[in-house]
Amino acid sequence: MKEKSLILKYWPQYKWSNVFAMIKNSFKEPEKCYEDFNGLVVITGATSGIGYYTARKYASHGAKVLAINRDVEKSKKLCEELRNTFGSDFDYIIADLSKLDDMHRVGKALSDLSENIDVLIHNAGVYLQRKIITVDGIEMTFAVNYLASFVITYLLRKKLVAQKSGRIIFVNSEAYRFAAWGLRLDDINWEKRKYSGLKAYGHSKLAQLLSMIIFCDYLKNTGITINAMHPGMVRTGTGKENGFTYRWFKKNIIDRMSKSPEISAEALYYLGVSDKVKDISCKFFNLTTLEEPAPPAKDREEAQKLWDLSLKLGRIDET
Ligand SMILES: NC(=O)c1ccc[n+]([C@@H]2O[C@H](COP(=O)([O-])OP(=O)(O)OC[C@H]3O[C@@H](n4cnc5c(N)ncnc54)[C@H](OP(=O)(O)O)[C@@H]3O)[C@@H](O)[C@H]2O)c1
Repeated sequence: MKEKSLILKYWPQYKWSNVFAMIKNSFKEPEKCYEDFNGLVVITGATSGIGYYTARKYASHGAKVLAINRDVEKSKKLCEELRNTFGSDFDYIIADLSKLDDMHRVGKALSDLSENIDVLIHNAGVYLQRKIITVDGIEMTFAVNYLASFVITYLLRKKLVAQKSGRIIFVNSEAYRFAAWGLRLDDINWEKRKYSGLKAYGHSKLAQLLSMIIFCDYLKNTGITINAMHPGMVRTGTGKENGFTYRWFKKNIIDRMSKSPEISAEALYYLGVSDKVKDISCKFFNLTTLEEPAPPAKDREEAQKLWDLSLKLGRIDET
């Protein structure tokens, strides 16, 4: 659907109260969980920012951590740090989550694990000001921020259901609101429009929220919960791939207004471990506060179309 028709579709559904709630929620003190946890947590992108602090948080409470990272040296360093600091059981799989082959390899490796995956945190993400097309011909932000989480979760679905318990968490973003007029499924690669980093980022996060609607149908009454969260506006390495001007602006303006990623890690620990949220599924949290998503993120019809497209883009054989 073109943007003009999408404006007509969602505009009447928008409510100011939804926007005010989002602003209010951003100031709320997040919940914390103080219990220990000795299960297995899988975290994508644990070498920097939110993923790094989350790996530390889980390790500090006794969890076994399996990270999916793209950088060998950073992974070795993290491994050493977590083992030395917490004596924790840490392992990693090296994968570039912009590549379909690697998404499939990770999906298979996780499916083949003999132990249960108690918490699966899809965290890896990028913010790119310049359009990059991956080796598979897909816009990079869409591939890393959305498609990787879709393919891995899809390939894992049978193992997760067989486990009868487990929590999937998408590290999403309030920036899904930048895709205010919804998805452009006819232009995933930004060939018909001028590329915008913010819009592409919002688009990828909206896609992830829409995929949650269909995953929820599949996971209903299975004991597996799936939720998305906004991790706060926090100081991380995000956007490091961009040019000098952006990096200057981020360091001197954005980072000064941002909080420590430790608050995101606390929230991800709470959502993954606390008994208070064990039965909550298919929801969006602003850190740990439940929040009603904006209209484009609730569009089941678009969610189904995206699902069908993602199966094709993700080269997933449905049989
Ligand atoms: N920071 C915020 O204020 C904020 C707000 C809302 C949402 N988020 C979301 O939070 C998540 C974490 O981001 P962050 O802010 O912590 O940024 P970050 O410090 O840049 O961390 C991103 C992580 O993802 C990994 N990654 C990036 N591309 C990858 C790829 N192709 N394959 C495998 N791993 C890849 C990075 O690996 P390397 O270490 O190798 O680069 C890094 O470990 C993202 O999904 C982001 O969209 C962040």
